[in-house]
Amino acid sequence: MLSEPLVKMRNISKRFGGVTALSGVDLDAYAGEVLAIVGDNGAGKSTLIKILTGVYQPSEGEITLGGETLEMTNHSDAIAKGIDAVYQTLALADHLDPAANMFLGNELTKSFFGIPLLDNKKMRSETERVLFERLGVKLRSMDAATESLSGGQRQAVAIARAVYTEGLRVLVMDEPTAALGPQETARTLKLIEAVKAQGLAVILISHSLDDVFQVADRVHVQRRGQCAGVVKTSESSQQDVLGLIVGAEEAA
Ligand SMILES: Nc1ncnc2c1ncn2[C@@H]1O[C@H](COP(=O)(O)OP(=O)(O)O)[C@@H](O)[C@H]1O
Ligand SMILES: [Mg+2]
Repeated sequence: MLSEPLVKMRNISKRFGGVTALSGVDLDAYAGEVLAIVGDNGAGKSTLIKILTGVYQPSEGEITLGGETLEMTNHSDAIAKGIDAVYQTLALADHLDPAANMFLGNELTKSFFGIPLLDNKKMRSETERVLFERLGVKLRSMDAATESLSGGQRQAVAIARAVYTEGLRVLVMDEPTAALGPQETARTLKLIEAVKAQGLAVILISHSLDDVFQVADRVHVQRRGQCAGVVKTSESSQQDVLGLIVGAEEAA
């Protein structure tokens, strides 16, 4: 692990009218690690990562990526800087095949006597290549509508689309296993490990401490809009993390 964090969020606060969702939060994420964010409902997890991914602007605070201060006004700004997210809903077009999903809005074209045409063959071979080389995944079918794939394979398509972005450095995943059974969860955790192995910083929001302790290197605990602590999974137990989630006074 590098000694300097790739992502530094500093003193982040966010107010929605009278509601303080975040107050003075610091977060570090390193290249080549999985950082989990855990906490009860309403603790500020989603707001924190929406700020990191440019969806929300902080009321206060600063974000740097590789030492550069980020000024983001929307999610496209974050993608341009190499920060993207895969949400639980995956945002896939279910009726389209995997290659069409992979290149949705970024279709590859070829020129036919000066007329741009979709290059379906290239999109398909690129999709197969990225899935296999970067995630170790071979889809059951490249022709089927994405909705007919298993939960884990759909996840792979969504992750492949994100990691295909040139210069992606940070991948955020909000509850990727929430809707999955045990087998699909195990496959998704493998995908997360594959992305980490490529040197990206992976930030995983999860309610499952089992998942967190299987795949994460460190855990950032959010509680009532603040960071309640950061621990290494190798040096702490699920019980320790649970204690930080509920707070010492309640646990006692
Ligand atoms: N768009 C919003 N408008 C008003 N309040 C919000 C909005 N988004 C989140 N909040 C509030 O901010 C707090 C943190 O929410 P959230 O970040 O979604 O928590 P978590 O993801 O940990 O469940 C909650 O009190 C929530 O009601
Ligand atoms: Mg949330």
